[in-house]
Amino acid sequence: MGTPVLLSIFALTFLFIVVIILISSFLIGKIYMAPYLPTRTKDLERINRIASLKPGDTFYDLGCGDGRVCRYIGAKNLKAKVVGVEIVHPLYLWNKLMSLIQPLPNVKIVRGNALKIDLSDADVVYLYALTSSFNGAYKSKLLKDLKPGARIISYVFSLSSWTGKMSKDCPRKGDMPIHIYEVT
Ligand SMILES: C[S@@+](CC[C@H](N)C(=O)[O-])C[C@H]1O[C@@H](n2cnc3c(N)ncnc32)[C@H](O)[C@@H]1O
Repeated sequence: MGTPVLLSIFALTFLFIVVIILISSFLIGKIYMAPYLPTRTKDLERINRIASLKPGDTFYDLGCGDGRVCRYIGAKNLKAKVVGVEIVHPLYLWNKLMSLIQPLPNVKIVRGNALKIDLSDADVVYLYALTSSFNGAYKSKLLKDLKPGARIISYVFSLSSWTGKMSKDCPRKGDMPIHIYEVT
């Protein structure tokens, strides 16, 4: 077999593995709270502004996907603790790889089910989850765990049944809405 044939086999195998990882990430994520869909890079600064973390605060991204929100928030707030929780193995491994490329001592990525993580130390929880899961399992979990004053930042989707303090950030037409809820 010549080199071009071997290279084609290698490239096709690599492509196949990438497609399998993407499909499984999507399906496994969907079985749980939301499929993998990353926050838009251009919205990271807005999210950081809304989070307005103080030194010593703890920020969680529940279902952190490729970890872009955690890395951005972690890099901008070196004195805050950032925790990302991701249930899908390949995405978790991607985060591990990225932590070698961009080491951030204040950022920790955990592999597991966000619904089983203790959030009692959270000051800010970031979610990009479907309305159905936000209004369902996540809501009871957040209300049970979060301390008064903690904030939930929800990208795009709203928690329609929330009765406490809330606001919405959507500065320009066409911007993704970001919903902010405060636990009282
Ligand atoms: C819409 S993506 C958001 C990714 C990331 N937060 C962002 O904004 O770029 C939702 C992520 O949540 C993960 N996920 C879904 N259910 C989960 C659960 N119960 N525990 C942890 N992660 C979960 C999915 O695998 C997916 O990566």
